[in-house]
Amino acid sequence: MTTYPADVPTQLPTTFATNQDLDPAQLRQAFGIFPSGVVAVAAEVAGSYVGLAASSFTSVSLDPPLVSFSVANTSKTWPDLRRASHLGVTVLADHHGSVARQLAGRVDQRFDGLDLTVTSEGAVTLDEGLATFDTTIYRELEAGDHTIVLLRLHAVQHVDHSLPLVFHRSKFGLQRPS
Ligand SMILES: Cc1cc2nc3c(=O)[nH]c(=O)nc-3n(C[C@H](O)[C@H](O)[C@H](O)COP(=O)(O)O)c2cc1C
Repeated sequence: MTTYPADVPTQLPTTFATNQDLDPAQLRQAFGIFPSGVVAVAAEVAGSYVGLAASSFTSVSLDPPLVSFSVANTSKTWPDLRRASHLGVTVLADHHGSVARQLAGRVDQRFDGLDLTVTSEGAVTLDEGLATFDTTIYRELEAGDHTIVLLRLHAVQHVDHSLPLVFHRSKFGLQRPS
């Protein structure tokens, strides 16, 4: 049982309301209260750069070293990206808001003007990222309207020279409730 110090007022309901309407718009709002970072997942496939921005990235395991992100089953990019032998993951910095939007926008412009590093195995990372990972797909798990992609890490670099890009309440940066 969770106990709270007597001087900390809690406003937790004793029960959850029943028959809640868990509609997607409400869920998106509730999920958005939890802040996340943003990564670029990218690779060179058949001579073209393919990739997307993802805020669903999370660390998973140290041994074996695994991270994950979730990709919508409607993604037009994932069927191509998953064919790559290696995938690059880049943790975006706080000045990368427009880069994140670009990486989620028009497919033919996603990598315009970006300084990239491409490994011999096709993993693509952004040079200005705070951390970069060279990965391969370890497992894909069906998860409702998304697929959870577990990635195994093969190489890691991090520079940590600035704050990370934060995605919160559907915007960049921490958002105070109005
Ligand atoms: C900040 C941000 C975070 C995003 N996070 C995800 C994510 O975690 N998973 C996902 O499938 N799409 C995410 N997207 C959307 C994708 O970047 C992309 O726009 C979407 O997959 C549609 O493009 P596609 O059809 O080429 O895949 C995010 C977009 C933005 C701007």
